[in-house]
Amino acid sequence: MATTFAPRIFSGIQPSGGITLGNYLGALKRFVEKQDEGIETIYCMVDMHAITVWQDPETLRHQTREGAAAFIAAGIDPARSILFNQSQVAAHAQLAWIFNCVARMGWMSRMTQWKDKTAGKNAEAASLGLFAYPALMAADIMAYHATMVPVGEDQKQHLELTRDIAIKFNNDYGVEYFPVVEPLIEGVATRVMSLRDGTKKMSKSDPSDQSRINLTDDADTIAGKIRKAKTDAAPLPDTAGALRDRPEARNLVSIYAALAGHTVDQVIADFAGAQFGSFKPALADLAVAKLSPITTEMNRLMKDPAEIDRILGHGADRAEAISRPIVDRVYDITGMIRSRRG
Ligand code: TYM
Repeated sequence: MATTFAPRIFSGIQPSGGITLGNYLGALKRFVEKQDEGIETIYCMVDMHAITVWQDPETLRHQTREGAAAFIAAGIDPARSILFNQSQVAAHAQLAWIFNCVARMGWMSRMTQWKDKTAGKNAEAASLGLFAYPALMAADIMAYHATMVPVGEDQKQHLELTRDIAIKFNNDYGVEYFPVVEPLIEGVATRVMSLRDGTKKMSKSDPSDQSRINLTDDADTIAGKIRKAKTDAAPLPDTAGALRDRPEARNLVSIYAALAGHTVDQVIADFAGAQFGSFKPALADLAVAKLSPITTEMNRLMKDPAEIDRILGHGADRAEAISRPIVDRVYDITGMIRSRRG
């Protein structure tokens, strides 16, 4: 009989830049919803993933704290969810090594994120960590026997790889030790696009700050970025289907829907025939109303970095308590000797 695993959610965000509206709508907002549904939730600032590309140490520390502040400001309750930074829990690095030995070079070289990040550049100069990145991600999830992972669409392939690694481990060692994880890619904002180019994902690494809204942006900055967002000349259509070949318009309508908690059809019903001259100010007002309270709370939390570190430490203790026995058992399964010491 197949082993059953208790429902448990794990997800992570890289502190390699500020948290964007894409991270918020595609991930963070949904992390809060999952917590509030009463499922066990474990959320992680993945600082070890961040250093797969160069990070200035002081900036990384700041961004890790700022990310944690964003989680709390957005509604993650560190008493209910486990909130921590990856490097404080050794299980991630330990299991990642085992998974490096399970995953195949061919699987890793087929990852579109690896291909995109090295396209047109010297792949030979990319870090080994960047190549192995998805094995660490699989370790993040499997160190907790997590069964569900809420993510944006760009992480789908990495989660398929996580399943492949778990299945291969189970087969190689003749066990049913790791669950086959289910990606949760849900809602209207699973792929928020750049405000400057509707064919590109909104990203913290885009060189243009105008391409994204950051959770640290103030009201004027948000309104300015939406006002200048690229659009076409036509008014909004009266069916959602008519947005198909209008990526910028579709993006703004989807952002509106996600922020308002409406479907795209509802937004279209409200704004059919509207020009962007009237839709953009409505979107800016909505974005400011939803994001400003989060920004204000983040700024308040950031005044006390020691308290953020305390919260992350407490989360790390709880994460450690779950992951330690899981990884110990992996060592036993793989034939690593663990002597009693001390
Ligand atoms: P990262 O830091 O790039 O993004 C964090 C989360 O935000 C989602 N996301 C978006 N969603 C919608 N529209 C966008 N434009 C957008 N940009 C980002 C991402 O899909 C993600 O859910 N590899 C991961 C971090 C990670 C992880 C994990 C996630 C490490 N270990 C284990 C889940 C489970 C990443 O780089 O996410």
